[in-house]
Amino acid sequence: MQFLKEEIMKHFRDILLIFLLLEGVLCKTWKAEMPQTISALKGSCVVIPCSFTYPPEASLSAGIHGIWYFNSPYPNNYPPVVFKSKTGIVHRNYLGRTHLLGELAQRNCTLQISDLNEDHQGKYYFRVDMGKPNIYTFAEYSELFVLEKPSIDKPEEIISEREMNITCSTPNNCPHLKPLLIWNNIEGLEGQTLSSYTVQENGAWTTLSVLSFIPTQKDQGRQLKCSILHPNQTQNFEEYLTLNINYAPRKVEVNHSMETTEGSKVVLHCSVDSSPLSDIQWLLNDEVLAHTHAEMLTWEIENVDFTHEGLYTCLAQNKHGEKNSTLYLSVKYPPRLPELSSPTVVKEGEDVTLVCSTESNPESVLSWMKGDKVLSTINYENELTLSINNVSPEDDGEYLCLAENPYGRIKNSVNITILFAPVILPESKCTAVRDGVQCVCAVKSNPEPSLLFQIPGRNITINDTDYELAHSHKSGYTVRSILELKGETATDLNVYCSAANEYGDKRHKLDFPGGPTVWAIIVGTIGGVSVFIFIIAVICIVSQSHQKKTLNESSSFVQTESTPAIYGLVQKVQENLEKTEVESSGHEMDADMLLNENDQKEKNEHDLEYANIDFVKLAAKKGYLSSEEETEYAEIRVK
Ligand SMILES: *[C@@H]1O[C@H](CO)[C@@H](O)[C@H](O)[C@H]1NC(C)=O
Ligand SMILES: *[C@@H]1O[C@H](CO)[C@@H](O)[C@H](O)[C@H]1NC(C)=O
Ligand SMILES: *[C@@H]1O[C@H](CO)[C@@H](O)[C@H](O)[C@H]1NC(C)=O
Ligand SMILES: *[C@@H]1O[C@H](CO)[C@@H](O)[C@H](O)[C@H]1NC(C)=O
Ligand SMILES: *[C@@H]1O[C@H](CO)[C@@H](O)[C@H](O)[C@H]1NC(C)=O
Ligand SMILES: *[C@@H]1O[C@H](CO)[C@@H](O)[C@H](O)[C@H]1NC(C)=O
Ligand SMILES: *[C@@H]1O[C@H](CO)[C@@H](O)[C@H](O)[C@H]1NC(C)=O
Repeated sequence: MQFLKEEIMKHFRDILLIFLLLEGVLCKTWKAEMPQTISALKGSCVVIPCSFTYPPEASLSAGIHGIWYFNSPYPNNYPPVVFKSKTGIVHRNYLGRTHLLGELAQRNCTLQISDLNEDHQGKYYFRVDMGKPNIYTFAEYSELFVLEKPSIDKPEEIISEREMNITCSTPNNCPHLKPLLIWNNIEGLEGQTLSSYTVQENGAWTTLSVLSFIPTQKDQGRQLKCSILHPNQTQNFEEYLTLNINYAPRKVEVNHSMETTEGSKVVLHCSVDSSPLSDIQWLLNDEVLAHTHAEMLTWEIENVDFTHEGLYTCLAQNKHGEKNSTLYLSVKYPPRLPELSSPTVVKEGEDVTLVCSTESNPESVLSWMKGDKVLSTINYENELTLSINNVSPEDDGEYLCLAENPYGRIKNSVNITILFAPVILPESKCTAVRDGVQCVCAVKSNPEPSLLFQIPGRNITINDTDYELAHSHKSGYTVRSILELKGETATDLNVYCSAANEYGDKRHKLDFPGGPTVWAIIVGTIGGVSVFIFIIAVICIVSQSHQKKTLNESSSFVQTESTPAIYGLVQKVQENLEKTEVESSGHEMDADMLLNENDQKEKNEHDLEYANIDFVKLAAKKGYLSSEEETEYAEIRVK
C-alpha cells in the first residue's frame, strides 16, 4: 500500500516535470529578466543581474552578441553604448567601467558597471544580436539610481515611552564592495537592539540595519547617524535623524504660590514642555481666564483685589495627554469696617450679646472695648461675640469693636441702652443754706424718672413736672432736683424724695447732716433783712405798671392755710441750654420781683404771708440763665 502510493507520487512528479519542460520550450520568446530598479552607491559598482530568452526558431549559427544601451532602446536614436560585446566600443562615460559578467551563450546578460557617478543614473536596455534578422532590443529595462547616502525609515510619529524601530538601508549590489551599516550616537538609548538583514527584491539587494529602542523625553533632539562603511575605502556615506519625540505635557511650570496686597499688579507665568505644542489654559477655581496654543501663557492682573484670591491652575493638553500645575494667590487687605449688632435697648438684669464681624486677610485681632477698657479680644478670627449677662446701669454706653491686622486697623461702635429703675444717689440730702434749707435729690434712672419731694409733716408734695418752676439738672442718666425751703431752719424737717419710672420706684428720706449753722442763720437773717430793705427801696422807685404773675399760676406746691410760709421751686434746666444760653451772670434784679411781691400781697393777703422772688425764672424769661451756684433767691416774709 505504502509502496503503491509512493509509486503513484513518483509518476505524478515525472509527468509534472515533463509538462513544465514542454511549456518552457513552447513558450520561449523574446524576453529579458532584470530588476526594474536597482540602486548603488556613488563610487562603487553595480551588478545588474540579467537573463533573457529568445524563440527557438532564432538560429544561433551566427553566434550571439549583446549591447547595453543607456536611456533608450532604439539604436536609431544613437543612445550611449554602455557595453558592446562585438566591438568593445562604448560611450566615454563607460570607458573601462563596464564588464559583462554573464555568458551570452547561456542567455546571461549580467552587467557590471564600476566607479559609478550620477551620470550613470538612468535606464539600461539590453539588445541581443544573433545575426539578422534575430536582432532584438528587449522592452524590459533596469533603472539605476546612484545614491550618496543611506536612507532612514522612521515611524510617522515618535511617541515617548513607546518602542519603535528605525531602519537604515543601503543598496548592496556590488559583490566585491560589501557595505557595512553603522549607527552612531545611540549610546544610552533605552532598550536598544540592533539587527541587520540583507534582502533581495526582484534581483536587487538591500542591506538594512534596524535599530529598536524606547524613546524617552531625554532623547528629544538627539541626532542619530547611520553610516555606510566600505572596508578599505575612505569614502563614507551617512544620513542623520533628529529625534522629535512626541509626548504629553511633561513639565508645567508656574510661579510659586504668593502673597500680594490689594492694588498691586501680578503676572502669573506658565510654561509648558510638551510635544507637539499644547493648548494651555489659566483657570481660577475652574473658571477659564485665558487660553492659547503655545509654549507658555501669562496672566496679568493689573489691580489686585480680594476677589483675585484663589487657586490658579495652569492646564496643558496635547493629544498625548495633559498635565496641570497650581499656585495659590493670597491677597492681603486691611480689615473692612466691622459689622456690629444693631443698637440694643435692654432692661437691667437681662443679657445682651454683641457680635462684631469683619473681613480681612490675614484674619484680624478683634477687640470689644468700652472706653479704654478692653472687654474681650480674639486673635486671628473675623468674628467676636461679647456677652454681658445680667446687665447693670454701668453697662450702658458705647461699645467699640476694633479690628486690626498688619495692613490696617478700623473700628466701629454701637450703643447699648440700659433701662433701669431709679437709684437715689448718696449725695441726696438736705443742707442748711444762708436763707433756708436746700434739699438735693440726685436720681439715676433710664428712662428719666418723675421726681417728687414730699414733706409729709407739712402735707406738701412738690413734683418736677412743672417746667415753669422746676429746678432740675440732668447729666447723663442722673437728674438732680433741688428744692429750696426759704426761711426754714428746722432740722427736724422730714423731706422725702421719690423717684419713679416704669421699671420701679424709690423713696428716700433726705438726711440732714447736722443742723443749720449759726452762720447760716445769721447770714440768712441779715441777708433777708438787707434784701427786704433793698426791695422796699426799689419799690419806691419803680412804678406799679408791671405785669403780674401769681404764685398760684406758677408754683406747683400744695399748701394749706395752717402751713407756715414755705415755697419750693423745682426748675428743670437742660444741659445744652445752659451751655448755649448763659451769656452773663444772672445776679441782676428786676423790678418784676417787686411787683410780684405787691401782687402777692394784694391778691393773697389773707392766705399768704410771704413773697417769692424767683430770679432764675425771671432771668430765663429774659433770655439768660444762671447755673446752680450762681442762682440767688430772695425771700420776703410778711407776717
Ligand atoms: C549569470 O552570471 C552571473 C555571473 O557569472 C552569475 O552570478 C549568475 O548566477 C548567472 N545567472 C544565471 C541565471 O545563471
Ligand atoms: C583591505 O586591505 C588590506 C590590505 O591593504 C587587505 O589585506 C584586506 O584583504 C582588504 N580587505 C578587503 C575586505 O578588501
Ligand atoms: C512669575 O514668573 C515669571 C517668570 O518666572 C516672572 O516674570 C513673574 O514676575 C513671576 N510673577 C510673580 C508675581 O512673581
Ligand atoms: C490637575 O491634575 C490633578 C492630578 O494631577 C487632577 O486631579 C486635577 O483634576 C487636575 N486639574 C484640572 C483642572 O484638570
Ligand atoms: C452712641 O451714643 C453716643 C452718645 O449718645 C453718640 O455720640 C454716638 O454717636 C452713639 N454711637 C452710635 C454708634 O450710635
Ligand atoms: C393734708 O391734706 C389733706 C387734704 O389735702 C388732708 O385730708 C389731711 O388731713 C392733711 N394732713 C395734714 C397733716 O394736715
Ligand atoms: C405734678 O404736679 C402737677 C401740677 O403741678 C400735677 O398736674 C401732676 O399730676 C403732678 N404729678 C405727679 C406725679 O404728682
